[in-house]
Amino acid sequence: MLLVAGDLTDYGLPDEARVLVKELTALRIPVAAVLGNHDLESGKSDEVRQIFVDAGLVVLDGDACEMLGIGIAGVKGFGGGFGQRALGPWGETIIKQFVREAVDEALKLEAALARLRTPQLVALLHYSPIQQTVDGEPLEIYPFLGSSRLEEPLGRYPVSMVFHGHAHRGKPEGVTKNGVPVYNVSMPLLTRTFTDRPPFRVFDVPVGTPESVTLAAAPRGRRATDAVAS
Ligand SMILES: [Fe+2]
Repeated sequence: MLLVAGDLTDYGLPDEARVLVKELTALRIPVAAVLGNHDLESGKSDEVRQIFVDAGLVVLDGDACEMLGIGIAGVKGFGGGFGQRALGPWGETIIKQFVREAVDEALKLEAALARLRTPQLVALLHYSPIQQTVDGEPLEIYPFLGSSRLEEPLGRYPVSMVFHGHAHRGKPEGVTKNGVPVYNVSMPLLTRTFTDRPPFRVFDVPVGTPESVTLAAAPRGRRATDAVAS
């Protein structure tokens, strides 16, 4: 399957979405995606989303889906910053609204994860849930690249891996405080990091319960391949 971690368009224009959809018709594998902030830029995200849906993409926004036996919970996420420096809901109404947006996105992620019963869970985000994969960006923009509030639900469910985009100058890999691997798959970062190959990553995810995978020695035929890009 192909997972796309948001910013499928530059300006959120329907014509851009149609160009991408045309490119993706060459693929013969399932595609799941979340939207990113770029996809909301022109206020036409409903139309953009519908173009993707009509083309067969599964666009997740606080939803969950199952593909090839793997559960995928997807949400765009939002900013607010990380750890003790995260923005709190205090003072002006607009600050509280900003924080509320991040809290709501975290709740949507939690609800999506709660719906899945597959042995393997993958979380697909646009904004980063941890600071590690943002490190390398200018400090001044950290609060606009992700939110620790998105990390909390990831620790409450057996999530195998997390993908996000958005932080173009961050680091490709990190880990949540509960040990879940987090991959920053933003295209500029992948282009810069892996100069000898196209800007997407490929992961093998064992399908089935951990026991059955061990007993079967995880033969290649029982695996589903995730290709991830943002
Ligand atoms: Fe973005």
